[in-house]
Amino acid sequence: MIEKSDQNRPEKPLDILILAAGLGTRMKSRLAKVLHKLDGRPLIAHVCRTASGLSPRRIYVVVGYQADDVIAAVETEMGKEHSAFVNQPEQRGTGDAVMAARSALAGAGATIMILSGDVPMVRTETLRELVQQHHAANATCTMLTVRSENPTGYGRIVRDKADRFLKIVEQKDANETERQIREINAGIYCFESVELFDALGRVQPANQQGEYYLTDVPGILQNDGARVAIYLHPDAREVSGVNTRAELAEFENLIRRSTVRRLMLDDGVTFIDPSHVYISADAQLGRDCVIHPDVHVEGKSIIGEDCELHQGTRITNSRLGDRVTVKDHCVILDSDIASDCAVGPFAHLRMNARMEEHAVVGNFVEVKKSQIGRGTKSMHLTYLGDATIGPETNIGAGTVTCNYDGKHKHQTVIEDHVRIGSDTMLVAPVRVGSGAVTGAGSVVIEDVPPNTLVAGVPAKIKKTLKESDK
Ligand code: UD1
Ligand code: CA
Repeated sequence: MIEKSDQNRPEKPLDILILAAGLGTRMKSRLAKVLHKLDGRPLIAHVCRTASGLSPRRIYVVVGYQADDVIAAVETEMGKEHSAFVNQPEQRGTGDAVMAARSALAGAGATIMILSGDVPMVRTETLRELVQQHHAANATCTMLTVRSENPTGYGRIVRDKADRFLKIVEQKDANETERQIREINAGIYCFESVELFDALGRVQPANQQGEYYLTDVPGILQNDGARVAIYLHPDAREVSGVNTRAELAEFENLIRRSTVRRLMLDDGVTFIDPSHVYISADAQLGRDCVIHPDVHVEGKSIIGEDCELHQGTRITNSRLGDRVTVKDHCVILDSDIASDCAVGPFAHLRMNARMEEHAVVGNFVEVKKSQIGRGTKSMHLTYLGDATIGPETNIGAGTVTCNYDGKHKHQTVIEDHVRIGSDTMLVAPVRVGSGAVTGAGSVVIEDVPPNTLVAGVPAKIKKTLKESDK
């Protein structure tokens, strides 16, 4: 139990070490466990974000298995300048992983918090409480423990008759009596750095797995007469690890349900069927949006107010203004749609597709790296790639911007108040001037002057348009 001390020591610097070098055999995967995704982000990214919330002096991540990919995931979450890594060449246990960080951490005279990369649900407030209790107790080591109905697989906390901490025993090394213990080690600790590395130097791999266990350190410190404290946390689920895909799916479900609940209760969003939507915790949805079943809103997407997203739509890292309707089965990636636009059904927007207010993109239209002007419509069966299209223009059914010559991509510019006839091929680079018209089936290989009608293959000027022609 926590021993209170009234002589609180002055705040020491806090460093955080996250263990993420293991494969995670129980996942039955080629992918390192910490790279498996929860709510669209790798497990390690969740832990990094939580750790950053404490504003420590430094966060180190111990990497080994698939190190390059784990490093990339950490840098994506925290930015290169806030990321620091320690390499553990061989995964010889959690104690060995911490030992690998010795030169980075030992001399520091700091408090070191150790976290596991596979415990993604833990909250910053919980970690803050752990540090506070560690300092308040003037402890050398403080462990976070929980009581669990199903302790199988976890290290057990062994106490003496007077209820004082004795040691941690791992599942595989525990005898029958020890296996009955319900109090488990969450794998979340604070240590004083000098004592940590001193004790770690005395850990032996004399156990079932032949590994260097970090979990031997608290027992060694206790034997040394150091102050070893326990923070018994009330919520076992929050600090449980992901060891199998079944546990990962449970967490996914929990996060998803809590996100949808928050959106309904706090943000005024309607879900036709709240159990069949997939909204990232980082996404924002505005008031009075209506979300139909099987909609995915991923990444940091921002959806304005009064939008309606119909079934089967996926929106990733995109921004929608207010009153946007997205009909069934659209895919919208990294794109930006202004207020009062309509999209779909079956439309595909990607790579910074941008629609200005009141623009409409209809069925089987793909828009890539293109801008569609205010009030412009492209209703059917069209490919718009590398194009800039002005306002109040109509793109006929079957139009294709032929942007690729086999080597390079080229731009198409369509100015304002243009009418592109059905089945027009715009062979880029090409520009269609303001107020121009192309006839159905035109193959446009040269720029079209403003207010001109072109038609044919290849398209030729047929006449200059007067106001009365339009
Ligand atoms: C560990 C604890 C156990 C605790 C549980 C809580 C040990 C020996 N056991 O068991 O008491 O109840 O966490 O979740 O510490 N790792 C490395 N290098 C290695 C081995 C592991 O970086 O050589 C990393 C893993 O990638 C993982 C973390 O350390 O992120 C924990 O390792 P894991 O094998 O999952 O330990 P558990 O068996 O869960
Ligand atoms: Ca684990």
